[in-house]
Amino acid sequence: MVKKRVTAPALTSMKKRGDKIAMLTAYDYTFALLMDQAGVDVLLVGDSLGMVVQGHDTTIPVTLEEIIYHTRPVKRAAQRAMVVADMPFLSYQINSEEAARNAGRLLKEGGADAVKLEGGCKTVPAIEKMVSAGIPVMGHVGLEPQSSKLLGGHKVQGKSIAAIERLIDDAKALEKAGAFSIVIEAIPWQAAQLITEAIKIPTIGIGAGPHCDGQVLVYADMLGLFTSFQPHFVRRFAQMGDLSVEAFEKYCNSVKNGNFPTLEESYTLDDSVLEEMDEKNAHSYKPNRG
Ligand code: KIV
Repeated sequence: MVKKRVTAPALTSMKKRGDKIAMLTAYDYTFALLMDQAGVDVLLVGDSLGMVVQGHDTTIPVTLEEIIYHTRPVKRAAQRAMVVADMPFLSYQINSEEAARNAGRLLKEGGADAVKLEGGCKTVPAIEKMVSAGIPVMGHVGLEPQSSKLLGGHKVQGKSIAAIERLIDDAKALEKAGAFSIVIEAIPWQAAQLITEAIKIPTIGIGAGPHCDGQVLVYADMLGLFTSFQPHFVRRFAQMGDLSVEAFEKYCNSVKNGNFPTLEESYTLDDSVLEEMDEKNAHSYKPNRG
């Protein structure tokens, strides 16, 4: 059965009905298939892949080509989920024409349903250009990891009244520019609640408390796969890192002690060929016929 894909208007309707939105990052076909099957509404091909997949310390080195490359398999897997491709560092900051062209490539070449970019009011011209070209845009305010060098690290934002007011202004500006949703990252839950109540488009929180319209996590964090860095807000819904190491150890032992593979786990010759071999006595050994 063909599933109806989640769209930008559908997410707004979810906010109106009070239905929470579940979003996860996805960077490959295998995991995207499982997430889509599980009912995840939005798959984000996040530039966090720079850390999770590529092993960088920040998201800065990720290129547009790499996001396109990872978006393709995620889109092939997603039957129902909306696929959002992250705009990497310097793909939208220079000018709005270049930003819209790069966003268009994520849709055209990657197959994304929408793009996401970081930043408040300063991104309005780029968002307007993209939306006028028919590209659905998700904003991202609060902690903006692409600016972590400027901010002095991955720090919680929105901790003063002035900072909260700026975030609310940013969110309203993004909504007015035509963004269909906004990720809010690493801010106190009270600030996230105020932002969520101030706009009609859905907010999707990461480290922003329970009052957002939806939640997003980096999938490797929530599966316990990526264990070197554990932000305070991450809940591990499984310990797949430990399970994986255990399975890899079992595999190594089985290979080394000759328990893997068995003949049942191997291909065998047809009986007719074995008989022919017997007749011709082509080999000095008797093949095991199972
Ligand atoms: O790149 C990413 O994974 C993100 C999420 C943290 C929202 O932007």
